[in-house]
Amino acid sequence: MARLATRFVCTECGAAAPKWTGRCEACGAWNTLEAEAPSPGAGARKAGRAAGRGVEFVGLAGETPLPERIPVGISEFDRVLGGGMVQASAILVGGDPGIGKSTLLLQAAARLANAGKRVLYISGEESVAQIRLRADRLGLRDAPVSLASATVLADILGALESEKHASLVVIDSIQTIWDETIESAPGTVAQVRSNAFALIRAAKTQGFALMLVGHVTKEGALAGPRVMEHMVDVVLHFEGDRGHQFRILRGAKNRYGATDEIGVFEMTGRGLAEVANPSALFLAERHGHVAGSAVFAGLEGSRPVLMEVQALLASNAGGSARRSVIGWDSGRLSMLLAVLDSRCGVKLAGHDVYLNVAGGLRVSEPAADLAVAAALVSAATGVPTDPETVFFGEIGLSGELRQVAQADLRLKEAAKLGFSRATLPRRVAGGNRRLATPDGIVLAEYGHLSDLVA
Ligand code: TYD
Ligand code: MG
Repeated sequence: MARLATRFVCTECGAAAPKWTGRCEACGAWNTLEAEAPSPGAGARKAGRAAGRGVEFVGLAGETPLPERIPVGISEFDRVLGGGMVQASAILVGGDPGIGKSTLLLQAAARLANAGKRVLYISGEESVAQIRLRADRLGLRDAPVSLASATVLADILGALESEKHASLVVIDSIQTIWDETIESAPGTVAQVRSNAFALIRAAKTQGFALMLVGHVTKEGALAGPRVMEHMVDVVLHFEGDRGHQFRILRGAKNRYGATDEIGVFEMTGRGLAEVANPSALFLAERHGHVAGSAVFAGLEGSRPVLMEVQALLASNAGGSARRSVIGWDSGRLSMLLAVLDSRCGVKLAGHDVYLNVAGGLRVSEPAADLAVAAALVSAATGVPTDPETVFFGEIGLSGELRQVAQADLRLKEAAKLGFSRATLPRRVAGGNRRLATPDGIVLAEYGHLSDLVA
């Protein structure tokens, strides 16, 4: 029998290479290749191929019942899942250490268990005593969750095999699970990939929903197993700034629903509390009449969310100017600075520019352009924006303002929070001509950024 060669696998992208190199050829990351022991299964599978039973093909039409959804009972969580967990599905919950993943999943587990569902919570990170302490703190001591502290894959699979009625199994975390037959340490790509596969297969055959906790690397990727993202049905990111109380649950992939919804939570002394009105929370610490601030009427999934954009300029004599962005795209900021410079005569080249979306939210909508531009111009001129105005609109390279989706939803939210004016792109024929303007909101429509600057 030919000797099986060790191969090297990138912990970032999962690409395999025959020999070690300092840089992964597939994704370009440095120092991410790690040795993976050969799998003896490959040769055996080859030999056994003749024995395969073949594949049965069927037509597109046919009776297939919709998968059953089980609501977790925490509505911000269910919103991101698309209405609840789908039976026999695998959900990966990723996030930085200490952000609150274990807290969230223990609360979800308790909620389901209190609703009469069978829930197993398996932790490889904490002892049963530690989990009980946490449950005490969360006021969940009486929830009938079945707890276990375990790390060995075979033990866990053995326990799951006899489970006929479990609705949810939580594994906290996939990086701590260890398959003794694989010659590498827990948390390595080989272990994580193979163990996730085995657990997901158990979920599919036994019919329970599986929630896997996954840690995130410094670079923000789900540690090692981007490969794992392909295996699971749903990928959720739990984000937030540890210095802040807000936490955002964001869908990155969902085979059973939309991925642009967010769930908003607040970390309190008694666990995570749902935030039903995120706009009020994100604007709570705003001081009106300060230069460099503008309120953006944004959209997260189907829900409008107002947030404050803050800009600060510091003069920089000589040297290259700094551009520092939190919560927005730095490429987009460079573009806006260029548009302000060449189309509107606002010269900021000699300044360091700092931009921040208050509250730790991350915005990806181009609709934020106008609010960012307003904050920058306000910072440059020292004139505060009107504290009763919200901004939204995309800015094109020639400085023209472009329509954005769901203007009426944004205006409605602004009116609800007591704003009286909105600055937005001018309506054009065929655009949102018939905009439903809520009572109490006056619109200021502009066609070009230079008109607004003036
Ligand atoms: P945890 O759920 O352990 O994070 P993860 O599993 O993502 O690593 O949350 C840890 C942090 O949350 C810790 O710093 C303490 C804080 N916390 C609260 O503020 N309130 C609470 O009720 C709990 C349980 C934790
Ligand atoms: Mg944890």
